Amino acid sequence: MAVRRLAPDAVQPKSFAFTPQTEAWLVEQVRKYPVGRQASAVIPLLWRVQKDCGNWLPQKAIEAVAERLAMPYIRVFEVATFYTMFNLEPVGKFYIQMCGTTPCQLRGSDAVKKVLERRIGAPQHVTDDGLFSWLEVECLGACCNAPMVQINDDYYEDLTEENFDKLLDDLAAGREVRTGSQQGRTSSEPTDNVQTLQDPGLYDGSRVGAWKKRFEEEAIRKAAEEKAKEDEAKAEAASAAKEAAVEPKPGKPDSGRATESPVADAPAQRAAAGERPVDPGARVTASEEGSRKTVDAQAVAEEEEVASRLATLPKDASAEDKANAVGERPAGLDAPRGGTADDLKKILGIGPANEKKLNGLGIWHFDQIAAWERPQIRWVGTYLAFPGRIDRENWVEQARALADGNTPS
Ligand code: FES
Repeated sequence: MAVRRLAPDAVQPKSFAFTPQTEAWLVEQVRKYPVGRQASAVIPLLWRVQKDCGNWLPQKAIEAVAERLAMPYIRVFEVATFYTMFNLEPVGKFYIQMCGTTPCQLRGSDAVKKVLERRIGAPQHVTDDGLFSWLEVECLGACCNAPMVQINDDYYEDLTEENFDKLLDDLAAGREVRTGSQQGRTSSEPTDNVQTLQDPGLYDGSRVGAWKKRFEEEAIRKAAEEKAKEDEAKAEAASAAKEAAVEPKPGKPDSGRATESPVADAPAQRAAAGERPVDPGARVTASEEGSRKTVDAQAVAEEEEVASRLATLPKDASAEDKANAVGERPAGLDAPRGGTADDLKKILGIGPANEKKLNGLGIWHFDQIAAWERPQIRWVGTYLAFPGRIDRENWVEQARALADGNTPS
């Protein structure tokens, strides 16, 4: 594999900013991962940014991804330079990846390569009209229809020198082209003298629905079984409660206990009956679960409100204008108290870049962050361009623990 380096400075843009659509998409992606694991979103985010940048990744874009995910630049550069799905230099409008692995080579990829060299030139060269560039890659997993190329997101298979030449002519002229086999195959059925697999249902997509339906039916059956079990458990609990509510009759072995408090004696009664004691922690956990869901719902509602307010602002609104539209700027200090700032990087989620930005706002100490309330959290989250993350990473709680001299949990 060739050494993969960033494009030379001469072609690197001086700045990069996420589009509003990517901003909104990013919030959803990061939410898929547990708090503190947002780095897991690095590949999808790089991929999305590459699409936004004309199918390649400028250095500033890679750095912006690193800052957004609170990752050191080097870790994101490692990912971008390792995977050949990321282009580190500008590519043509039609970026062609030609498979040169054995099955494709045996089926004629050399002829395809000759067309590319004749029409475009050397690998990675972009034609003067900006339309085409190409690269030889390893197997793209469509060997059954070899030889093949991938152009942007689509596969073109069963290529010959003639049909590939025509395909490039059509693309250059803006004519509609057919993806997949260029010899009329629907998938990878035999090209002639078809003796088997003649059931049209194999090719018309109808079996896709059948497959999906089977899973849906299975899910419905399982849900019904769960519901029946739940109903049965509820009925048993109700009948047990009813029995317990009936006053014991005189003459029965426990009649002497009728005047005693059933609540106070409940554990003893359960123990006498050989039942497991009720675990008070179980009730707390359920209530905690409920309140967590409420907090999550509030967070989602607030993020939606922030997004709708931001949508009313002009596209070129500054970070400060955006933040002012959704919250209240936290009070800052001119300089750290006593000339020494706290190490804000001890808060999980704050890296060197964000610490610098916070210092720029006059935030130098843990107790300043610990004092933030909703308006300040919204303001800072929007200013730093990662709405919701301060909550997800519990910056305020972490700051409170650190201000009290503890280690955040
Ligand atoms: S060898 Fe070319 S797609 Fe597999």
